[in-house]
This record gives sequence, C-alpha cells and structure tokens, in this order.
Amino acid sequence: MQVVIVNSEQQVAKYGAQFCAQFINQKINATLGLATGSTPLSLYQELINKSSEGSLSFAAVTSFNLDEYIGITEDHPQSYRFFMNQKLFNHIDINKNNTYIPIGMGDPHASAHEYENRLKELGGIDLQILGIGSNGHIGFNEPSSSLASRTRVKTLTAQTIADNSRFFSADEFQPSLAITMGIATIMEAKQVLLLATGESKATAVRDFIEGPLSASCPASALQMHPNTIVIVDEKAAKLLEHKAYYQQVKFETEQLENSLF
Ligand code: PGA
Repeated sequence: MQVVIVNSEQQVAKYGAQFCAQFINQKINATLGLATGSTPLSLYQELINKSSEGSLSFAAVTSFNLDEYIGITEDHPQSYRFFMNQKLFNHIDINKNNTYIPIGMGDPHASAHEYENRLKELGGIDLQILGIGSNGHIGFNEPSSSLASRTRVKTLTAQTIADNSRFFSADEFQPSLAITMGIATIMEAKQVLLLATGESKATAVRDFIEGPLSASCPASALQMHPNTIVIVDEKAAKLLEHKAYYQQVKFETEQLENSLF
C-alpha cells in the first residue's frame, strides 16, 4: 500500500485526478469502479475539467459503481444513479449504456447477483476509486462484513445512516438497506485508489492502514491488495504513526522514477 499525504482536500483531488487520467490515457477502454459520497466530488470535478480541456476521454470507458440504496428509484435525487449523472456522467463523453449501478428496486438479491455476474462477464475492474466511511467501511461493507463477500444486500449501520442523513430532509424516507459490491469483489480490482479527507476520517484511516487486518475495519482488507494507493490530506492523516516513513517512500519513489540514482 502506498500512502501519499498532501496538504489539502483540493490537492487530494488534483493528485487523484492526475493518477486517474494517466491510468485512462494508458488504457482508454478501462473499466472503472466508481464511488459516491462527498469525498470523490472534487475528484470528479477535476476529471470533468480534464475532459472539457480535451486531455481526457471516457468514450471507451465502462464503469461500475460500488453501491446503491434499496427502495428508491433511479430518478430519486438521493439515488446513486442520480448522483453519478449529475456529478460526472452528464459532463463527460462516457456512453451511459456502459455505466452500471446496482438497481435498488425490484428483487435486490437477484439484482446483486446479476451485477456481480455482469462485472465478471465484462472482465472485472481495472481501477477502483474508493472513499472510506468514518467506521472503516468501503462501499457499504459495514464493519463485520465478510472479507470474502460478493455483491449483495447489506443493512446499514446506525453510524452510516447518521453520517448520510445530511443528504435527506427530516420527513424524507432514508433507506437503511443497500446493494453493495463485496470486499472480495473490490479486492479483485487490478488497481485501487482510495481517497480520504478531513478529521472525521482520521481514526478510520489509521485503523485501515496501521491497524490489524480485521472485518471490524473492512478497508483493512486492502492490506492484502497488491496495488493500492491511498491519498489523504493532513487532517485525515493526523493519527498515522508512520507518517514520516510514508513521506520518505514518496520521496524515494520519485527519485527512482526520475532516474536520479
Ligand atoms: P463520504 O463517504 O465521502 O461522503 O465521506 C465515504 C463513504 O461512506 O464511503
């Protein structure tokens, strides 16, 4: 796992977007795993900017989102389909027929199963973008999720429901169930890029990078992933014990890449 610590939330987005753009430019028909939430918003804006400038195209890209709420329709403003259209897909040249998000209406178990199969059929994820919950979840894989899990129905924890209640008005139905890619599904991505910003993520960031590998912190499964890069701002990195070492690794890696030896 490579840990990159930058000064601000804006730099997390900039650095993350640079990484994504380089990746897509090298594999123009990449399959991306996409996330919703507040964290990737600035990243998506950076990607939109690159796309408008003409330095990045999504024309041949396929995407699979991590998760979707159960019980709200695709056109509901809080659905993740709505979010992705508004925050990314409507502003780039991606073919929407190639953007997959679990269907949260109808039979959710069948929908989850079909989603996992479709992903497999299309060859899996090349680059998975992740945020992290304040409780260490990735996707909606809440603490105690099986590390061998596949796309399925999950019950959201009280903490996740509270964290996400900011998006719902007081009298609005807020789902407590979701379909989410499993941890084993995420672990099959060839490359993972996890972003975290702000002090509310500091405990989760410390636990998943430096804590034990445990279903109590689902993101810690990434300790077993061969190609994960984590980009965090200073606030989210606040509790990391080995900060100096991560910065030294970044320095040494850049030296090596610039062939200064
Ligand atoms: P956030 O959510 O980006 O809105 O903080 C992240 C997550 O729950 O995975």
